[in-house]
Amino acid sequence: MSSPTAELRAPFLVVFAREGQEDFVKNEFGLRFLGTKFSFSRPGFLSFKRAHAETGATIEWRAADAANLIFPLRTGFFVGKWTEGKGFAPIEGFDIATSAHRHVHAIDAYTKKDPRTEGETLTLDEGAFARRFPEAAEGLRTADAKRADRAGWNSRAEPGERILNAIAVSEKEVWFALTDLRDSEFGWPGGESRIERAAESPSRASVKIEEAIALLERKTGGPILKAGERAIEIGSAPGGACHALLARGLKVTGVDRAEMAPVVANHPNFTRVDSSIGDWMFPETTAAEWIAIDINAEPKVALREAKPLVDYLKRGVRGIFFTLKLNQIDFALVAERLAKATAADLGMTTYFLKQLPSNHREIAFFGLTSRATAKAFVRK
Ligand SMILES: C[S@@+](CC[C@H](N)C(=O)[O-])C[C@H]1O[C@@H](n2cnc3c(N)ncnc32)[C@H](O)[C@@H]1O
Repeated sequence: MSSPTAELRAPFLVVFAREGQEDFVKNEFGLRFLGTKFSFSRPGFLSFKRAHAETGATIEWRAADAANLIFPLRTGFFVGKWTEGKGFAPIEGFDIATSAHRHVHAIDAYTKKDPRTEGETLTLDEGAFARRFPEAAEGLRTADAKRADRAGWNSRAEPGERILNAIAVSEKEVWFALTDLRDSEFGWPGGESRIERAAESPSRASVKIEEAIALLERKTGGPILKAGERAIEIGSAPGGACHALLARGLKVTGVDRAEMAPVVANHPNFTRVDSSIGDWMFPETTAAEWIAIDINAEPKVALREAKPLVDYLKRGVRGIFFTLKLNQIDFALVAERLAKATAADLGMTTYFLKQLPSNHREIAFFGLTSRATAKAFVRK
C-alpha cells in the first residue's frame, strides 16, 4: 500500500454478508483458504486472518483471493482501527491522509436492530458518526478536506471506485477497511443493492431477478431483455419474478402447481402451466430466450428435473436466472461444480454464482450466452 492507488492487500480481510448467513461465509473461507483464522464478528460482519496452514505465518490477503467468493456481499482490506482513549492505529503503510478513497461508508455493526430493520445494513450518517465517535470523525474530516473528488458519505460507489468502510464494532471502537468495488458487487454501504420490491409485485423474488438483471446490464453496458422475448420460469408461484419480466414486456410462461397471484395470472402475456416440471410434457413448439428456475429443491435435484427442458431450449437461450437453495453449507461447493458444468453446457460467456443481497438460504446463478453478449456487426 505504498502508493494510494496500489493494489490493496492486508493481513485481515473484513466481510459484509447477509445477516443470518454468517455460517456460509465461515465455511466458504474454511474450505477455500486452508489455515485461515476467523477472528471477530458481529451480525452480518466478519473478519479473517490468513495464515500458512503449516507454519502459521501470516499471509496477506490480495484482491484476487476475494474476487470470486460466493457469500460476501462486500470484502474490505483492514487498514486500522480507532479506539477510544488510544486514537487511530493504522496498519503499517496506511495513511488516512493520503488514502485514495472516493466514498466513506459508515456502518453500525453493533447496535441491536429492531425487527423492522433486521437483516439490513445499519448506516451512520455523517452527523451521527461524529456524535458517537468525535475523534475518529475529526481524523476522517481532516483527511477528506484534502480531497477534491470526494463523492460523499454513504454514497453509491461505482465499480473500480475505492471505498473507505468505517465500521463501528462497539461504542468505543471503529474499524477501517478499504474496498475497490468489483463489478459483481453493489455499491451501497455493506454491498446493498437498495433495489425495492415493485408495489404490485406478488413476492420478494422480484428483487432477486432485478438484482441479477442489474449486474448483467452493468457488465454488458445496456439492456439485456427485449420486449417480446419469451421466458419460462420453473417454480413461478406466486409470481414476483414473472411480474418483473412481464413489466419489461416479455412473454412469460410459469410452471408451478401452486396458484399464481391474479396480477400475474390475468396478464395477457402470461401463460400458466399447472404442473411440476418433471411431469410437464412440453409441446414441441416450446421456445424461450430466457429460463428461470426457483424451486425449493436442492440444486442437484432442481437442475436434474429442469434438464430435459433446458436441453430442448438450449440452442435459442440468451440467458438464465437460477436460484439454488442451500439447506446445508456444503451444498454451496456442490452448486459451484454444477454451475460450472451448466455454464459450459449452455455456452455461457458471462455468469455469476453468488449470494445476492436479496438471497437468504440460497444463492443465485445467472448469466448470458453468446447469443446475448455477441457484439452486433456494424457496417460502416
Ligand atoms: C420460492 S417459490 C418461487 C417464487 C417465485 N419464483 C416468485 O417469483 O414468486 C418456489 C416454488 O417452487 C414450486 N415448486 C417446487 N417444486 C417444483 C417442481 N418440481 N416443479 C415446479 N414447481 C415447483 C413451489 O410450488 C413454489 O411455488
